[in-house]
Amino acid sequence: MIRDIQDEILRLKKEYDICILAHSYQAAEIIEVADITGDSYKLSVEAAKVQNRNILMCGVHFMAETAKMLSPDKRVFLAHRDAGCPMAEQFEPEMITAMKKQDPDRKVVCYVNTTAELKTVCDVCVTSSSAVKIVKAMDADKILFIPDINLGTFVAEACPEKDVKLLHGGCPVHAAITADEAREAKAAHPNAKLLVHPECRPEVTRMADYAGSTSGIMEYAAKSDEKEFIIGTEVSIREHLQYKFPEKKFYDMSKRLLCQNMKATTLMDVLNTVKAIGGDSEYDAAEIIMSDELISKARVCIDEMIRLGG
Ligand code: 13P
Ligand code: SF4
Repeated sequence: MIRDIQDEILRLKKEYDICILAHSYQAAEIIEVADITGDSYKLSVEAAKVQNRNILMCGVHFMAETAKMLSPDKRVFLAHRDAGCPMAEQFEPEMITAMKKQDPDRKVVCYVNTTAELKTVCDVCVTSSSAVKIVKAMDADKILFIPDINLGTFVAEACPEKDVKLLHGGCPVHAAITADEAREAKAAHPNAKLLVHPECRPEVTRMADYAGSTSGIMEYAAKSDEKEFIIGTEVSIREHLQYKFPEKKFYDMSKRLLCQNMKATTLMDVLNTVKAIGGDSEYDAAEIIMSDELISKARVCIDEMIRLGG
């Protein structure tokens, strides 16, 4: 059944000239039909190079918006209309503009998990894999990092030469995990390396053997000679790693590391959207529509991310 739906998607995406992008948090059956998979940074960079007329993003809303900004002449769709990242909407652009007026020398660095409207008032965008490199490379000593206080703390600790101001935003999924949970996971698996996403609380990240982006965690586990790992990010990464490396053992840092928004997309959403793109169904596909003005203003900080992170 799953194989039949996948075959139909693979056939139709060719017929309708669609490139499917999927974030690594997506389910395995979606990853298998995607043309490009990876973390937020890889998806952003690759979205700019897509040759197809249509892009279908399996992930959350800001990822589809970023793809639209980088490929404005393409039609871009989000596979599940309501899949959003709660962190992306935690601050209003007006508030950041007011802070910039009070402290004009401080450059605003925004995590890619932000709305396009918020990006219009930011100087540079970063992803978890590029944040430290970009902040170090910036020609500014004073930084306001938004919205994630945990990733911001990770960046501030890695860039002691910079004055990094933080606001109280963050990922409700990663930030919910306590140091006690991390300690319990370590006690249960004393020989395992702890690999953690920097969206986790600093006291959790500091306990880790490695802290980095989704791709960083996957690469570390792939290249390491160690045999056991506790995965401190969305549970799908533990599942993908276990499937890819059956000779190694992977454990969840916490079963609560489950992002409902990332999990909202189903294979049927992908099939329905692919059909709708081809005009082959009445399904109300979620196309990303943005004005030229919004794209050109919000794109500035994304282009800066690719220039400095390149
Ligand atoms: P990455 O930047 O590691 O892809 O993370 C995106 C995300 O939403 C993590 O929760
Ligand atoms: Fe947003 Fe957190 Fe889900 Fe990532 S895991 S999409 S940051 S809510």
